[in-house]
Formats: sequence, C-alpha cells, structure tokens
Amino acid sequence: AHFWLRGIAPERPVAFDEQAGLWNVYGYPEAVEVFSDPAAYTSDTVPYIAPDAPEYEKSGLLTQMDPPAHRQLRQLAGRAFTPRLVAGLAPRICALTHELLDQADGRGTLELVDDLAHPLPVTVIAELLGVPASDRPLFRQWSEEIFPREKVTARGGSAGTADGDGGSGGASGTDGGGDEIAAAFDLVRRMNEYFAVHADDRRRQPREDLLTRLVQAEVDGERLSEAALGNFAQLLLVAGHITTTMLLGNTVLCLDAHPERRAELRRDPAALPAVIEESLRLLTPFEVFYRATTRDVELGGQRVPAGQVLALWTGAANRDERVFAGPHDFVPGRDPNPHIAFGRGIHFCLGAPLARLEGRIALGILLERHPELRTDPDNPPVLMANPELTGPRTLPLLTA
Ligand code: HEM
Repeated sequence: AHFWLRGIAPERPVAFDEQAGLWNVYGYPEAVEVFSDPAAYTSDTVPYIAPDAPEYEKSGLLTQMDPPAHRQLRQLAGRAFTPRLVAGLAPRICALTHELLDQADGRGTLELVDDLAHPLPVTVIAELLGVPASDRPLFRQWSEEIFPREKVTARGGSAGTADGDGGSGGASGTDGGGDEIAAAFDLVRRMNEYFAVHADDRRRQPREDLLTRLVQAEVDGERLSEAALGNFAQLLLVAGHITTTMLLGNTVLCLDAHPERRAELRRDPAALPAVIEESLRLLTPFEVFYRATTRDVELGGQRVPAGQVLALWTGAANRDERVFAGPHDFVPGRDPNPHIAFGRGIHFCLGAPLARLEGRIALGILLERHPELRTDPDNPPVLMANPELTGPRTLPLLTA
C-alpha cells in the first residue's frame, strides 16, 4: 500500500532531542495530558523558543494565550463564530464546489489542490471574514512563507522529505535562526497591515461579516486593539485554509489507496463523515504543536524540568497502538476514534465544525461528480516537503 505517509508508532512516548534541545511527545496519553493542563504547560512558548525575539504584540493570538486571557478571547470568538453561522455556510460551500469543478471540467484535467482543495477553504474563510477572495494569491503566498517548500532545520539540512522521517525529526518549529524569526515578524507585520486597512473600513462602514463583528466586539467593556484584531484575523485565515486543503487532499489519497473503502462509500454515502475522521487520524494535516513547562513535571515516565519546550506530535499520537488497534491501517468507522487532529482541551480547534462541513460537502460532490476519480500513475502526487504539514502540494487526478 502506498503509505508514504509520515507518522510513527511511538516507541518512546516522550523523548528528549539533544540537538534541538526540546522534548518530543509522540504518545497519545502523554499528548492529551499536556493539552489538558494549560497551567503546567503554557501555550505562550515564544519566550522559551526564541528568548531573543523582539517585542511583539501578542494579544489576539489565541493559540499562544493561556487562561484567563485565552478564555475571554475564545468566548468572543465563539460568539462571532457560532455553529449556526457555520451551518449557514453550507449552500455557499456547495455552490463554490460546483463552480470550481465546472471550471476544471472545461479543461479536462483535475489537479485537486489548485482546482478545489486550496481555493475552496480560502474563499470560504475570506468571505466569512469579509476580505476580497480575489486576494487569494496573496493569502497563498503568506501560507507558503509560513510553510516553505523546503524548510531548513537547525541541523542545517532540509527537513523531512515527504516520504522521510518527518514525524520523528522534530524541532523544525524551534530552529529559530535569527533570520527566520525576523522573516516571521516581518510577515506578521504585513498581514496586520492588510487587516488594519479592512478593519478601518468596517469601523466607518459596518457590513455583515466577521471583521465587522470583531471591530464591534468588546472584551471586558473594551474594544479589541488594532493588533489583537489583526492577529486574530490572520490566525483564522492561516489556520482556516491550509489545514483544510490538506484534509481534502488526504481523504482523496486514502480512498485512492483503498478501492474497497471507496466502493463502500459509493454504496453508502452517509459513511463519508467516518471516512473523513479516519483520514484526519491517519494523515493528520497539521502535526506539531508546542508547549513549555511552567514547573517540573513528570510525563511519560520522564522528569521534565520547568522551562522546557515540548513538541506535541499529534500525527504520531494518532497512531499510538495503545489507543488505536492496527494504527497504520485506514479503517473508517473505527469506534471510538478519539483522534486529536483538532487538539484537545481549551485550545480545541475553533474551526473544526467548518473544516468537517467543508470536507463533507466538497468530497461528497467531488466523488459524486467523478465516480472514476483516481491518481495518475504517470503523474504522481507531490507531498508537502515540510514536517509540520501532512498532505499533497499537488494532486493530479484522472477523471475518465
Ligand atoms: C486550533 C487543527 C481547521 C481555526 C487548532 C488546534 C489544532 C487545529 C490541532 C489546536 C492548537 C493548539 O492546541 O495549540 C486544525 C485542523 C484543521 C483546522 C487539522 C483542518 C482539517 C481550522 C479552520 C479554522 C481553524 C477551518 C478557522 C476557520 C483555529 C483556531 C484555533 C485552532 C482559531 C485556535 C483555538 C484556540 O487557541 O483556542 N486547530 N484546524 N482551524 N484552529 Fe484549527
């Protein structure tokens, strides 16, 4: 079977990486323990990972916040991003999917990433926020800057080739060369400038969009600062599309590798949600998240002192054989399937309902419109050459 795919069975659930100077957490119970205890494991990791980083405005960066500030912003975000609002997007997701597939039909070939898996989620999130979907090339450029084609590691080499050991290599997010950090700060500045312009416009002229709700929102009787607003908007934009792009591509790859599952799905389209959950488990789209210890802890039988950085490898944890029987097999309908592709605890992915909805609608339509859909042996998929992201960069498909 072509499981070129990353993710390893954790032989040692928690392992110190001398070279990177951090702790890799591969085990499922250990990762859940860390996710579930924000007091012992802070999400505000930049001071530990890059102590020399310049001062920057952190407000609004939900993923890097701890309670109680996290709770306030998360509540606000929850109010702006309700299940009802997400469910209301279904007709638009449906129409967009058909539109995008119509355009590809005109050409007679299908490259899943460019034709559907990237434009769909980025257009949905741009429309939701209220920024022009025609700025899509810009958003794509940002995500390419965040997840470069070739990620250079602290070891000086190019990390985790697509079929390599990405999952076990560790540390790519903490390699923190000065240049890389300067580039990241510069990117954040450019993204904030972009959102500031649109936010200004909404202050003058409110509209029916998320950006308007965010400029009007109050935490403790105060409006969000410009920086908080920009930070939060860029988090939604970035978190909200590249992961979903991976999810769509990965599910097609899983089904392509398992024609029997594809046949089952054809007989019973209602099985699609279970297929998507298993794809999220086996090919976890975004597979490393960082925390730092605020005190001495014991984790997975190891003593970890205060002030240490931990890399939580969710893709590896999702293949922990202590929790998932036959962890490398694609078994839609596993019951239970408690994968942590969307994390766990207070930072549980805010966009999970949207990602699942997009997956169900887009893949449902794709498979129905193209019953013969399959990979092209002469033109194989190219995977992301980045250990943090699992999924195709390009996925050419035959449809006839
Ligand atoms: C948080 C995964 C799609 C917005 C997270 C976290 C994970 C995750 C693992 C937790 C991070 C942590 O604990 O440090 C995914 C995957 C997706 C996806 C695998 C697609 C398959 C989306 C979408 C959106 C989104 C579509 C928005 C439209 C967010 C936000 C957070 C988050 C705002 C931060 C929540 C917080 O810190 O409280 N995501 N995500 N994600 N995600 Fe997603």
